[in-house]
Amino acid sequence: MSAAFSCAHPAIRDIRGHQDYTAAVVRLDDEICYCYHVSMRKLVNFSRRVKPLRPSEMTGCLGAGTGCGWCIPFLVKIIIRIH
Ligand code: FES
Repeated sequence: MSAAFSCAHPAIRDIRGHQDYTAAVVRLDDEICYCYHVSMRKLVNFSRRVKPLRPSEMTGCLGAGTGCGWCIPFLVKIIIRIH
């Protein structure tokens, strides 16, 4: 019997076996947070304006990161690049 796993992210099944799924090329119009449909452009603009220090502060951008948590590594990378 397999463990139940529910996630709204359609790519979650494609990341098994990969160390860093955030290494993929991401365009500004790509959706990063699938739970809340937040694009990279929105996240980058939000972080330039607010200058968050931790991923939890990115939740002010349309709730990004507050669903399944799949996008949190992307949020961390955005924060690191902004500072
Ligand atoms: S993709 Fe689920 S919280 Fe962002």
